[in-house]
Amino acid sequence: MSLTPLAFEAAAWCAERLDEVELALSQWVGVGAPESLAAPMRYAVLGGGKRIRALLAMAAQEAVQAPREAGLRAACAVELIHAYSLVHDDMPCMDNDVLRRGKPTVHVQFGEANALLAGDALQAQAFELLTPQDNSLPPVQQAQLCGLLARAAGAGGMAGGQAIDLASVGLALDEPQLRHMHRLKTGALLQASVLMGAACAPSLKAQTVAALTAFADALGLAFQVVDDVLDVTADAATLGKTAGKDAANDKPTYVSLLGLAKAQALAHSLLEQAMAALAESDLPDTRALAALAERVVQRTS
Ligand code: IPE
Ligand code: IPE
Ligand code: MG
Ligand code: MG
Ligand code: MG
Repeated sequence: MSLTPLAFEAAAWCAERLDEVELALSQWVGVGAPESLAAPMRYAVLGGGKRIRALLAMAAQEAVQAPREAGLRAACAVELIHAYSLVHDDMPCMDNDVLRRGKPTVHVQFGEANALLAGDALQAQAFELLTPQDNSLPPVQQAQLCGLLARAAGAGGMAGGQAIDLASVGLALDEPQLRHMHRLKTGALLQASVLMGAACAPSLKAQTVAALTAFADALGLAFQVVDDVLDVTADAATLGKTAGKDAANDKPTYVSLLGLAKAQALAHSLLEQAMAALAESDLPDTRALAALAERVVQRTS
């Protein structure tokens, strides 16, 4: 009798990991902070968000068969950096948004000073999670995870991309310029999610790292292309954030550069690139990573 491999149930896989991530975040975020800081920190992180970055980190950690403790810390750390980036992105000095994850933005709810500080504290807490004082993660791994996250969040990653975004208002960027901005502001943290999950293994083949890097690079760009598309095609009730903001703020996007149909086609071609790269990883089971990549491009919110 031959054994048929069990079908991969993406929805069930996600639901189980989401439970783990939500529980861990609710146990960690803002604990020990003064109440005026804990409240906006918890508001920014808990009760909303697709957790795509956390799921990617856990899928990568599982694909390399590394311990969950490290994978869960990596997953929560990237979500904290992401949440902080959203808090600051929404502030009046940046995108000036009032709606996020179906709720008033953090500065609307708690004031600008508290939103600023909540972002600062979430950023620091991400690195606290990666450096547990009980040494439950080996020190070398702590350093690797911190390095990957710092580089993705900083001047050569998210913060740098956000700076280009602000400096590009009203400009018509060409495709290489727009790609560079999107890779930094959004792609870097998506890529770090995968690479941090993978870095939970004590060692990896160079081929595996190269394949996952290429996979996550294409996926990270696809993520922001789809974000640009949804800003035009979806409504606020579905998105949980204001629709049509990019045109209103005169931001260069893949839709403003290529038009809607070509931007959608680009997202699909980036998904194909990501899948082709993943096939080169030499890992035994990449079904969760593949399912998440499809979700990034097929999503409607
Ligand atoms: C929105 O990210 C901001 C971008 C980087 C495009 P998500 O679409 O992942 O937001 P949440 O976490 O699900 O709210
Ligand atoms: C945000 O890009 C990227 C971040 C680093 C937060 P957007 O400004 O397009 O994100 P949304 O559309 O407000 O979520
Ligand atoms: Mg923005
Ligand atoms: Mg924004
Ligand atoms: Mg957007």
